Amino acid sequence: MQKKPAIAASAVAILALLIAEPTEPRRNFPSFIGVAACKKCHEADSIGNQHKIWLGSPHARAHQSLTQEKGLEIARKAGVEDPSRSLACLKCHTTGGGKTEGTMTEGVGCEACHGPGSLYHEFSNHASFEARENMYRKAVSLGMYPILGYDGIKARERLCRYCHTEGRPCYPESAEERKRQKLPLGLIADFVFKHPIRRR
Ligand code: HEC
Ligand code: HEC
Ligand code: HEC
Ligand code: HEC
Repeated sequence: MQKKPAIAASAVAILALLIAEPTEPRRNFPSFIGVAACKKCHEADSIGNQHKIWLGSPHARAHQSLTQEKGLEIARKAGVEDPSRSLACLKCHTTGGGKTEGTMTEGVGCEACHGPGSLYHEFSNHASFEARENMYRKAVSLGMYPILGYDGIKARERLCRYCHTEGRPCYPESAEERKRQKLPLGLIADFVFKHPIRRR
């Protein structure tokens, strides 16, 4: 049971990263590198093609939504001039909260949920078919968010709820739509055998 403290510490680091002020990229400090880096390997059907699943999900469209009719209307009400460039919206509608130029328009990409990948994205730093546990622990120490499996459910809940909150400018007014957009823990935790995508 040596694993627990490390995982707990990383769960704290998740929020620290999400709400951190922009900082100069530092050596040995993980940064966001974008979906394309993950796609290289994760578009293979042999390991689940998470890229294709993601591409078909609302998270991949999160940046586009900002400049569609509804997005522009919400922005107007919130007093935001250009939602596609404003941190007030990018905070939750893209990877890295809009503070990284390279991931500004990708929507809620892999690293928004799995953590900044610059240090762990190489095969040897996060994936091994033989020593899974060890590699996962190593990846977490290099910036991967510990949201996988049952052990990761608490951190996962915090991650999802950071964006899926009632305090957002796009929180709907109608009770019916509010109910539809609710993200109960059952849904957050119900992903053990499939990659998370949509409600239906
Ligand atoms: C060089 C190829 C490669 C790249 C690049 C890559 N991955 Fe992976 N990744 C893999 C392989 C292979 C696995 C193991 C799959 C399995 O066990 O079924 C894996 C596993 C994972 C897992 C599951 C970890 C676990 O312990 O079960 C996550 C999460 C993940 N990758 C996220 C990412 C993200 C996010 C990126 C981009 C920042 C990325 N990967 C880039 C090859 C890669
Ligand atoms: C960085 C912010 C962010 C994080 C983290 C995040 N989401 Fe989302 N999520 C969004 C945004 C933004 C949308 C809406 C995208 C759109 O339609 O433009 C969305 C959409 C969704 C939808 C689709 C709703 C529908 O209409 O079907 C589901 C389901 C969902 N998220 C679940 C999750 C779960 C589960 C997690 C945690 C594992 C999570 N999200 C983490 C920002 C986030
Ligand atoms: C705190 C995080 C957060 C912020 C900040 C935020 N959003 Fe959202 N937004 C979300 C989430 C989460 C969803 C997905 C809701 C769902 O479908 O469950 C969403 C959904 C949306 C949608 C599609 C939802 C729909 O009703 O069809 C639009 C459009 C949108 N947001 C626009 C904006 C605009 C414009 C801003 C800036 C003024 C903004 N959002 C700021 C988290 C956020
Ligand atoms: C909205 C958040 C979210 C986004 C975006 C996301 N993931 Fe995941 N991913 C998760 C969660 C939560 C799990 C854990 C599922 C579990 O433990 O049962 C997971 C599991 C995984 C796994 C483990 C094996 C599997 O397929 O379940 C891999 C690999 C992975 N993600 C890669 C990726 C890649 C690559 C991308 C981008 C193309 C991506 N993820 C985008 C939340 C996300």
